[in-house]
Amino acid sequence: MDVFRHLKRRPTLDLDDIQATVLRARPEPYFGTHAIIEITDQAAGKELLRRLAPRVPSAARWDEPRPSWLALAISYRGLVALGVPQASLDSFPANFRAGMAGRAERLRDTGPNAPEHWEAPFGGPAVHLAVTVYAANEADRRTEVTGYEQQLRGLPGVKLLSHQDFGANGFNVFGYRDGFSQPVVEGSGAEPLPGDGRPIKAGEFVLGYPSETGHPLAMPAPDVLGRNGTFVVFRKYHSHVAAFNRWLRDNGRTEQERELLAAKLVGRWRSGAPLALSPTGDDPALGEDPRRINDFDYADDPRGLKTPLGSHIRRMNPRDTKLEVLTDVNIRRVVRRSTSFGEPTTALSDDGADRGLDFIALGARAIDNVEFLQSEWVNSGNFVGLGKEKDPLISLQDTGAYFTVPGTPPRRVQGIQSFNTLRGGEYFFMPSLSAIRWLST
Ligand code: HEM
Repeated sequence: MDVFRHLKRRPTLDLDDIQATVLRARPEPYFGTHAIIEITDQAAGKELLRRLAPRVPSAARWDEPRPSWLALAISYRGLVALGVPQASLDSFPANFRAGMAGRAERLRDTGPNAPEHWEAPFGGPAVHLAVTVYAANEADRRTEVTGYEQQLRGLPGVKLLSHQDFGANGFNVFGYRDGFSQPVVEGSGAEPLPGDGRPIKAGEFVLGYPSETGHPLAMPAPDVLGRNGTFVVFRKYHSHVAAFNRWLRDNGRTEQERELLAAKLVGRWRSGAPLALSPTGDDPALGEDPRRINDFDYADDPRGLKTPLGSHIRRMNPRDTKLEVLTDVNIRRVVRRSTSFGEPTTALSDDGADRGLDFIALGARAIDNVEFLQSEWVNSGNFVGLGKEKDPLISLQDTGAYFTVPGTPPRRVQGIQSFNTLRGGEYFFMPSLSAIRWLST
C-alpha cells in the first residue's frame, strides 16, 4: 500500500522545527532500531545531543520518501540528568513527571503487566533518552545505526542500556495490516483521504498551536523548549500469537469461521479491509486501497452487527458510535508510530520466540489520551454498554473473560486471554530541533 499521503495544501506549521517522525509515516516495509540511553554525566549528555542534533531530520517535505531517519525523545529523568532548570521541570505535566511506571494504577498496568515484571531498563531510573531509527531497508537501517553508535562510542558519561531491532512488511505479528488509520493534522499540508474526517487542529499533536478547544494546550517552559515539541507514549508488548491461534481454532469450525472471528475481534480483516465495508468476507483489494480503507463510519451499525462494539478499532476510535459516556472523540486521537518485532507465526504451541509490538503514540495530549484509553475504553466496556468486557486484543483479561459478537442471537465467545502482555514502557517528550540545540548548551 502507498503509505504516503500527498501534500496538497500549503503547510502552515513550522515544519523545519518539528521532528520528522511527528508527520512522517513509517515506510512499508520498514526496518529499524529502538535504543535506550542513560546519561550519567550532564556534560556528556549535552555533548551527545550536540552530536545527534544534525542527524535528526525535520518534518519538512515529510510526504516524500526518505531512506532512513532518526527520532529523539527524552524522559523526565532524562531532562533532570541534562540539568534542565527546576522551574522548567516543574512546568511539565504531572503524569509525564511521574513516568509510566508511576502511573501504573491509572493505566491499569497490574498483575503480569505491572512494572515489577517489566524488562530492564524499563520502569527503572536510568531510562533517559530514546533514539529510534526508521529505515526503508536493512542496509539503510545499518548505516543509520552505525552513524549514531559512532557518536555514542568514546563518550564516557552516556551508556547504551538496550537496543531492539524491529521490522515488518506492514503487517503485525498476528498477521493484521497495522498502522494506517491516522488523524490528519491541520496545517501539515495533508489532504484528507475519504473517511479521514476533517483535519484535527494542530495543537492536539504539536505544542504551540491552537488545539480543538481553540487555544494552545499548556506548554513546558521556556518557549524554546516547549514549542513545536510533543509527547510520546512507548509501550512494549509481548504477543502471545500461539494462544491467539488456539483461541481461533477452539472457536471456529472452519477456516472461514476462524477468519471471521479474527476480523470481528479487530474490526478489520487481516488485509486491513474494514468489516464496516466488507462484513461477510475479506476483500484484499480494499485493504490495499488507501482511498477506501478508512472510508466508513458506524452510523448504519448501531448494534455492532457488522463491527462489534467491543472490537479493537471500534473501541479505540468509536467514530460516530453513540457513546453511553459522553466524550469528544476528536481530542482522543493520537498519531501512531508503532513498530512490530519478531516473526508472525501460525503455530498452535508457543515456540518461545520474542515477538510483539512497540506501541508508540504521539501527541500533545498523548499521555492523557493513552491513560484515558487504557482505563475507560480498553479495560472497561461501560462506554458502549458492555459492562466489564474489555478490549479483546490488548487488555489484561481475567479468567472467565469473553468477547461478545452481536447478532441474532449474540454470541459470547469464551476463553479470551491476555493476547498481549506489557513488558515495559515510558513517557517521553519529543523536543523540536531548536529545543534539542537549547538542551545541548
Ligand atoms: C500489541 C498491541 C496492539 C496490537 C496488536 C494492535 C493492533 C491494531 C490493529 C490491527 C489496528 C487496525 C489497523 C489500523 O487502524 O492501523 C489497530 C488500530 C488502532 N489501535 Fe491498536 N493495537 C495494539 C495496541 C494498541 C494500544 C495500546 C492502543 C491505545 C491505547 C491502540 C490504539 C489503536 C488505535 C487508536 C487504532 C486506530 C483505530 C481507528 O482509527 O479506527 N492499539 N490496532
